[in-house]
Amino acid sequence: MISQTLRDARRYEETYEKRIKKEDRPEFHFSSRVGWLNDPNGFSYYDGKYHLFYQYHPYDPYWGPMHWGHAVSEDLLHWEYLPAALAPDQPYDRDGCFSGSAVELPDGRQLLMYTGVLRVPQKDGGFVDEQTQCLAVGDGVDYEKFEKNPVLDVKDVPEGCSGADFRDPKMFRNEDGTYSMVAVNRAADGSGQILLYHSEDGFEWKFQSVVAENKHRFGVMWECPDLFELDGKDVIICSPQDMLPEGFEYHNGNGTLCLIGKMDPETGRFTEEHNQTIDYGIDFYAPQTIRTTDGRVVMLGWMQNWDTSRLQLPDTAWFGQMTVPRELSIRNGRLYETPIRELESLRCNPVKHENVVFADGVISLDGICGRRVDLELELEPGDPEKIYEKFAVRFAQDDTYHTAVSFRPHESIAKVDRKFSGSRRAAIHQRRSLVNSENGKLKLRLILDRFSAEVFINDGEQVMTITMYTDQAADRISFYADGCVKMNVMKYDLITQE
Ligand code: FRU
Repeated sequence: MISQTLRDARRYEETYEKRIKKEDRPEFHFSSRVGWLNDPNGFSYYDGKYHLFYQYHPYDPYWGPMHWGHAVSEDLLHWEYLPAALAPDQPYDRDGCFSGSAVELPDGRQLLMYTGVLRVPQKDGGFVDEQTQCLAVGDGVDYEKFEKNPVLDVKDVPEGCSGADFRDPKMFRNEDGTYSMVAVNRAADGSGQILLYHSEDGFEWKFQSVVAENKHRFGVMWECPDLFELDGKDVIICSPQDMLPEGFEYHNGNGTLCLIGKMDPETGRFTEEHNQTIDYGIDFYAPQTIRTTDGRVVMLGWMQNWDTSRLQLPDTAWFGQMTVPRELSIRNGRLYETPIRELESLRCNPVKHENVVFADGVISLDGICGRRVDLELELEPGDPEKIYEKFAVRFAQDDTYHTAVSFRPHESIAKVDRKFSGSRRAAIHQRRSLVNSENGKLKLRLILDRFSAEVFINDGEQVMTITMYTDQAADRISFYADGCVKMNVMKYDLITQE
């Protein structure tokens, strides 16, 4: 039975999506069908297709009572919208169906687990959230909420820990056919931790262990955990709130964290060997991973961040995109990210410029322009005796606007800067990252898609992601050097074939 609340959402999205022109959306990045989108949810492979659900408020481009939007894809780049999957329509999720995940059951049905939110008024006039884990079962389009919901509540967290912040279950199927799930909550010290749960059948769940505790090291509360194997290691990703900066690695506010180490299967505890930021740009949060049918671990994230999510233009019909799906690997103990190889199938109109040497000024190059672009740059000093001071590539550019990625080899710092992208808000517009460079050499791959730029540095050793809502007519690309730079440039347009 589909509730009236879900029926209303489905009718609304079907009607209002017609008002959004194809060219007003990103070309190949997933965007909200209508209204607001945040975290990816239920990123999974089911019935021959990749499924992506998302935190969704269809009725306007701002966060509100959370629904789950839904789409499917065969290649993670061409998406087909399906009707909204979940709406906040039950006594235990009346105030929102928060983030969660999906697995396939042995009988061929798809199982969703999400966080049900209920705001409970307090005597002092305030509210406290009751967050519980809930299930819905479906056929890939329609889902029925489980009659025994919620399946996990405050009684299922370790003693002294909070049930007000208990959310974002990520389930996975174990080799023996049982299920595990990680969720976040607050430990007694008020900071985040990741809890592990186990189930024989996907419906009855039991607390197993505390996988990792924050102890106020990385922000306060953690959100959206994920746990997976990659290149012989175990990897945790999560999104800490309220972070303090640490060098150029972590920055203020909401951030993302990758812990690489080992899970002890006996104790269910994780031992950390390395920690790092997942994306060093501005607009990235709450990523989720999938294992593709050919065994790759692919991640996509919300291409926005709570601290910078008020950049809506007036009359925006949709707001919120996902990053390009990224293949993950571990090299030299670090997480590397590269755009999924399927993106290469969108490449057309190649333009190559080799050994371009320029100094102390700005140049543009024949055929290098556009807002849906895959641009590869290899930089080195143009003068072998003297390393240049600064290099920049500017894009989304016209006489008024530009956004830039720059690199200062003497400081080994790359910077993204969207100050002149047309934003009228006082949000963060610049961010810097330390990068590895020997003698002024650097590799950059820039993926542009109308409203965003993702910069993959040195084959994905660092990634910096930003959104920009600059008028699409601003499509020039130019290069700047202080000192002498030599570069190889390879550019493709990225166009989806229908
Ligand atoms: C992360 C998050 C999750 C929560 C959801 C609500 O961005 O805060 O913790 O489930 O968004 O929309």
